[in-house]
Amino acid sequence: MPSRTVITFGTFDVLHVGHIRILKRAAALGDRLVVGVSADALNVAKKGRPPVFSESERLEIVGSLRFVDAVFLEESLELKRDYVLEHRADVLVMGDDWSGRFDFVSDLCEVVYFPRTPSVSTTEVIEHITTLGS
Ligand code: CTP
Repeated sequence: MPSRTVITFGTFDVLHVGHIRILKRAAALGDRLVVGVSADALNVAKKGRPPVFSESERLEIVGSLRFVDAVFLEESLELKRDYVLEHRADVLVMGDDWSGRFDFVSDLCEVVYFPRTPSVSTTEVIEHITTLGS
C-alpha cells in the first residue's frame, strides 16, 4: 500500500496537551506527519504579539516529538494549497475551531477536523502565568 502523508498547521507556542493530542491523532491517520509551524511574523500580524518561543525554537520543539516526521516554516497563510502539494499530503488535519475553513483544499486531499481539547490554549496558559506574577 502507498504511504499516507498527513499535514497540519499551527503556532504550537508554549506546547500544551491540546497540541500533543491533535498531533498524535493526526499522526494516527497516516504513515508520516508533516507539521507547518507558523512564522513569528504571521503571529504578530494575526494576534498582535510575537509568540513566547521563536519560530526556530518552535520548529525544534515540534520536530523533536516522536510522532512528528518533518517540520517546515509556514511563512504565508495564503500558501496552504502549495504546502499540501509540495509535501504530497493525502490528509490535512486541523482542530475544529477551524471547522470548514480548510475545505478549499478538499480537491487536493482529505480534510479532517478533530475536536479541540477542552479548557486549554496557549493564550490561557500565558494569562494564567501572568496572574501568578501579579
Ligand atoms: N488545538 C487543539 N486543542 C486545544 C488547542 C489547540 O486541538 N485545546 C489545536 C488547534 O485546533 C490547531 C493546533 O492545535 O489545530 C494548533 O493550535 P494553536 O493555535 O497553535 O494553539 P492554541 O492553544 O489554540 O493557541 P492560541 O491560544 O494562541 O490561539
